[in-house]
Amino acid sequence: MQIESTNGSYRDLDVQAIAIAVFKDEKADADGFLKELDSVTGGVIKSVIESEELKGKEAETVYLHLVGNSEIKAQRLLLVGVGERGDYTSAQASQMAGTAVRALRGKNVKSIAVLPRLEGNAEDIASVVVEGAFMALFDPDKYRTEDKESREISKLVVVMDGADETELQRGAERGRIIGESVNFTRDLANEPGAYMTPTNMSERAREVATEFGLSIDVLDEARMEQEGMGSLLSVSHGSDEPAKLIILKYTPSNASEDGGELLAFVGKGITFDSGGISLKPGENMELMKYDMTGGATVMGAMRAIAQIKPSIPVLGVVPCSENLPSGKATKPGDVVRAMTGKTIEVINTDAEGRLILADAIAYARKLGATRIVDIATLTGAVSIALGDVNTAVIGTDQELIGEIVAAGKEAGEKFWQLPLDKEYSKQIKSDIADIKNVGGRKAGTITAAAFLKEFTDGVSWAHLDIAGTAWSDEAKPYRAKGPTGVAVRTFIRIVARAAAKHSGS
Ligand code: BES
Ligand code: ZN
Ligand code: ZN
Repeated sequence: MQIESTNGSYRDLDVQAIAIAVFKDEKADADGFLKELDSVTGGVIKSVIESEELKGKEAETVYLHLVGNSEIKAQRLLLVGVGERGDYTSAQASQMAGTAVRALRGKNVKSIAVLPRLEGNAEDIASVVVEGAFMALFDPDKYRTEDKESREISKLVVVMDGADETELQRGAERGRIIGESVNFTRDLANEPGAYMTPTNMSERAREVATEFGLSIDVLDEARMEQEGMGSLLSVSHGSDEPAKLIILKYTPSNASEDGGELLAFVGKGITFDSGGISLKPGENMELMKYDMTGGATVMGAMRAIAQIKPSIPVLGVVPCSENLPSGKATKPGDVVRAMTGKTIEVINTDAEGRLILADAIAYARKLGATRIVDIATLTGAVSIALGDVNTAVIGTDQELIGEIVAAGKEAGEKFWQLPLDKEYSKQIKSDIADIKNVGGRKAGTITAAAFLKEFTDGVSWAHLDIAGTAWSDEAKPYRAKGPTGVAVRTFIRIVARAAAKHSGS
């Protein structure tokens, strides 16, 4: 899809269709945009609004062919409701663009102009619009041979009246990079376990590193042994596929010694989670192919960061393993020794994510990380607490948590903080080892975080549990069902915000 932008009029654009945001209860007779639109389309807008076919509620659409008196070059028009004008922010504008391209693709339209009608920073708005468009065009039907969505949109134009042309262009290009990277993550998450083993994942990481210029190191099991990563290794014992620890690093070309600050993203890469000896029930087990989404999120974010080239270094750490039962698998009751020397009693082999993250977090610290954000489909409990709306964020550094929430707002992604009082750590005390890997039924998402905290050794840290938000059971007007790519956009903005602070200081 070719991306263009313009600060000129939508009337003369060489596209097949124009998509326009319409606010709730917006009228075409009051002075303003819709009145003008009504007059250049021969009165069709007024007629649509008066008939109450369109009230401007979010994701409502009306599709029109402009014939007769239209003074617009494009022959088709899509009106997209965006809700209250006062609540309209970049999140809604991004979804509006998504709804528009998904609906128009369904009408076999090939070239589209989008008028988001959002005021503000042109670069940021162009970016979210293009992000939303790319994300909307992703479909998880890769392995279908029949009834596959084969229609493609060849051109998208972002229209922002009076905006600075260079800012618009820069934003549109950034939006393309981010949108493609979110879809890269979704593609990985969608892959069946057989096609996305730890080895496959490390190969995909190598491709990204080579294509976009990141440094990469992949630790095999022998090197993990040397590092003493008994916790990570214990998870892959039951599998024929060897574990991998992927390390991606972005270093800015103007790398200055910035007091050694290093932001690290650490993502859970369980390429299939059967539960191991603590086997999961069969129902919905196929979904556990997406248990590597945290890792895929880190890879997707690094893929974008490599292209956006911020002024600060970023580390990506992705521990990958399968979790399967076999005669060699770790058993409930076994005790393993993590890289930090801490011993862990494995009560439940299905609480494997925290076991691989423990060593990955410790290794990120060894590589010099001063701030760590880990991301994982870690607990079913998070869906009970927050559903598929908010991602849980828990950590030891309130400022970092604040940055995540704020970056999420910019990206149109929601995060909700859960507490991490020290009392919760009592639940993971073991009778025979330093800690155990489960904390009972109560506060499952928090006790999982309390476990991870044991391996952060006081470094600034926050944990994101995306088990509820990384996969969508239902399609939205702006997004297919399946992998959502949640947090990729937020991660990129966390880095952008840190880079802006760094260059401002
Ligand atoms: N990968 C699962 C968590 C999960 C569940 C992700 C549902 C997505 C959807 C994780 O490894 C797991 O099995 N966690 C257990 C922990 C329990 C044994 C303490 C859980 O949540 O049941
Ligand atoms: Zn599990
Ligand atoms: Zn898991």
